[in-house]
Amino acid sequence: MKKILFVCLGNICRSPMAEFLMKDMVKQRGIEKEFLIESAGTSNEEEGNPVHIGTKNKLKEFGISTEGKFARQMNKEDYQTYDYIVAMETRNIDGILNIIKKDYYHKIYRLLDFSLNPRDIRDPWYTGNFEDTYQDIKEGLEYFLKYLGY
Ligand code: 4NP
Repeated sequence: MKKILFVCLGNICRSPMAEFLMKDMVKQRGIEKEFLIESAGTSNEEEGNPVHIGTKNKLKEFGISTEGKFARQMNKEDYQTYDYIVAMETRNIDGILNIIKKDYYHKIYRLLDFSLNPRDIRDPWYTGNFEDTYQDIKEGLEYFLKYLGY
């Protein structure tokens, strides 16, 4: 079982997009039983809020639902629970380290560091462009799955 936690700032835009897209990708491949996939934010600002309408609508285009997801802040226990803590951008890694203090087990990654063009995921909170974010996340997840051996 591979346990993956995607992390952004608010847990309403980018990390839920990664969570539900990855859930769909592993389901398409028939390997969903091998994964636990969740998401969280480094901040508590959006705690309890549903997925942002931009992310919801973008995933809906592909028949993917985000039903039942509400934002939550990452906590220290998550660091023990998950094998891969996958951040959307460098700033999130600082946020994660603020919560857990030290990455003893080297579990923290930045999603697009798995790709051939390492960079941050474009943040739709500022751009309003959820298509760009989707493209970045899709690219990252394909390389991440490859990295995991799929
Ligand atoms: P997310 O998007 O981190 O991708 O969920 C954001 C959500 C909230 C804020 C920024 C980004 N905010 O500044 O409140």
